[in-house]
Amino acid sequence: MSQSPRHPQSSGSEEQFTNTSTPTTIGILGMGAIGTLMAWHWRDLLTSQRLYALKPQADVITRQFSQLDGSVDVIELPIWSPHNDPLCPELDWLVVTTKATHTLAALRPWSACLSTVKRILLLQNGMGQQQQVEQWLAQQQLSCEVWLGISTEGAFRPKPQQVVYAGAGSTWIGPASGNSIPPESLPGQLQLVTDIHQRQREKLAINAVINPLTGQLRCRNGELVTNMEYRQQLIQLAQEVQTLYDRMGWTLAMPLVERSQQVAEATGHNRSSTLQDILAGRPTELAYICGYLLAVARAEKLPMPLTEHLFQALN
Ligand SMILES: NC(=O)c1ccc[n+]([C@@H]2O[C@H](COP(=O)([O-])OP(=O)(O)OC[C@H]3O[C@@H](n4cnc5c(N)ncnc54)[C@H](OP(=O)(O)O)[C@@H]3O)[C@@H](O)[C@H]2O)c1
Repeated sequence: MSQSPRHPQSSGSEEQFTNTSTPTTIGILGMGAIGTLMAWHWRDLLTSQRLYALKPQADVITRQFSQLDGSVDVIELPIWSPHNDPLCPELDWLVVTTKATHTLAALRPWSACLSTVKRILLLQNGMGQQQQVEQWLAQQQLSCEVWLGISTEGAFRPKPQQVVYAGAGSTWIGPASGNSIPPESLPGQLQLVTDIHQRQREKLAINAVINPLTGQLRCRNGELVTNMEYRQQLIQLAQEVQTLYDRMGWTLAMPLVERSQQVAEATGHNRSSTLQDILAGRPTELAYICGYLLAVARAEKLPMPLTEHLFQALN
């Protein structure tokens, strides 16, 4: 079954698409929780051989995918690798779904093939990796466009081959730079928006409060508001991050002190991705959350002692 790609018509910050017959070919780099979830959303492309995983050595990737209703789908994704096909695939989208920390390491082995890739979509949390990728592409004299994505969907991977869809949400994308040409077609589930940088900064602000604190205190999100001592720490950290945002003129839809408490409460039972990474002994994405904000603050000569302390303690 082939995808029904769409053409954009602007309406506010989200753009609506109408169907056309332009097909889309997608490669996914990083077949973890979000990469597998997206592959499941785009599974119709498999029959027309327009969906691949990029991996150095293998023929196929198999994942057990538990849907929201508990039923399990088995997804088999063909691998594109220089070992099984020396011709580079022509991709409309190379979707990077590694952790922010692994972005460049994941892209580097494919540099010889990126000339046949139209757009790289960084579908990740954190900020700073975009600039690293843009610099690296320029060094490689590659001209593929960089796009950014933010998702409120939730998935986790209890075992390497198993992914559980934990919560439906939205996935917004937009070009990193204003010069990009609107795509002729868009993969399903993705919504094109005109304010992707604003949405990234909104998410970063919340993550910069909840993630390091839950990592340091080894607590679930909700304890940041139910435990009065933790709540005080959350308020002070949110004020510190808000001060940087105010200095930079980065507006937020709601004051961060209120918003971060609201999110901590609404996701009370969750363990933040930072806490999950710490408990599993994996590197965290804090360099692309706190580290990014600290670099901005340093350039502004604005001290952020609480963020600095948490970052040093956890990084
Ligand atoms: N999970 C969620 O609910 C969720 C929601 C919103 C946003 N996000 C964001 O989405 C991004 C991905 O998160 P995730 O939860 O999907 O992480 P994940 O489950 O750890 O998946 C990351 C995948 O990247 C692969 N990878 C790591 N280094 C690589 C490399 N050098 N080359 C190729 N692949 C490589 C990993 O391979 P291995 O299989 O070898 O580990 C893994 O399959 C993060 O930025 C996260 O913050 C996640």
